[in-house]
Amino acid sequence: MADIDLKRIAVLTSGGDGPGLNPCIRAVTRMALHVGLEVIGVQRGYSGLISGSVMKLDARSVGGIIGRGGTFLGTARCPDFYHERGQREALRALNRLDVDGLVVIGGNGSLTGALQLHRMGFPVVGIPATIDNDVNGTDIAVGVDTALNTIIDAIDRIKDTASSHQRAFLIETMGRDSGYLALVSGLAGGAELVLIPEVETTLEEVERTIEESYIKGKAHCIIVVAEGWKPGTRVLVDYLQQRQEELGFEIRVTALGHVQRGGKPLAFDRLLATRLGAKAVETIVAGQYGVMVGWVGNQSALTPLEEAVAFQKAVDLELRKLSEAMEK
Ligand code: ADP
Ligand code: F6P
Repeated sequence: MADIDLKRIAVLTSGGDGPGLNPCIRAVTRMALHVGLEVIGVQRGYSGLISGSVMKLDARSVGGIIGRGGTFLGTARCPDFYHERGQREALRALNRLDVDGLVVIGGNGSLTGALQLHRMGFPVVGIPATIDNDVNGTDIAVGVDTALNTIIDAIDRIKDTASSHQRAFLIETMGRDSGYLALVSGLAGGAELVLIPEVETTLEEVERTIEESYIKGKAHCIIVVAEGWKPGTRVLVDYLQQRQEELGFEIRVTALGHVQRGGKPLAFDRLLATRLGAKAVETIVAGQYGVMVGWVGNQSALTPLEEAVAFQKAVDLELRKLSEAMEK
């Protein structure tokens, strides 16, 4: 049970944004109000915590945001928070504001920040939100499904034009350290090849795939490349352009970039965000701190923050094998 007299909680979004943050803030706010708590919204992640940029949230302040992309509280990467001094300033602000519990919505970095606050004795609960889907303790993070749908829509569109012109396309997805988005979107988008940081693929192998696709009589060759794949999209383009004659297909490149992070959250993310946001408040009310509320086996599950951020969740390499089997 809670060992504090709970009156007021705060919520913040931190790190890279993604679709679903607004419905998550809404769920935290509405559930907190539902159980009789006051809610403070912190602007621009840990930066707003340090500077005390906050706003009181009531039922109306989170009205109309369930379908909006981005985060109406703002988010930030806050270098000061990496250091104990910044963390202490944040704690001072939380105490000054009479906040009894904090919900942190974000990816691995933001949840590591939350763990620091927990270690300093502050009641914190985390919610995984990152399009990269690389947080332990959750099958899927808030934002992943919508981002995947955005990528698949882009692949479908590019396929139309690629087939019309008989071209090979390199489509770059986000994922600085993780191949999840590229692998899953490539599988669902029917790509001829997926390049991810977790699996070594040589430039020659990519060249061979393009040549073979042409010889098989395919109208296009779609290659999905994760941002973190080495030696990188730029090197690959240069290599392929020097071999244009032998490839058959002309080469084009589309880097999807931040398009993947924007847009209105789709049904899955709205529901996930609502469930995890509500559960985070229930968790604080139950006096369980220092945990992340994730989604495992179709239900919410608590994982100690320490475990959640211990290492980056690996992509399922079985999916890579499935992808290979589909690349015919
Ligand atoms: P994400 O949460 O999307 O993974 P980042 O890795 O950029 O994004 O982290 C967001 C913010 O979380 C950082 O700018 C910093 O303020 C905080 N943070 C990240 N890592 C740590 C850490 N090891 N200790 C304390 N705070 C951290
Ligand atoms: O971690 C989420 C993510 O979108 C990564 O996939 C990407 O590499 C990075 O953030 C981009 O960060 P920024 O918003 O700083 O450009």
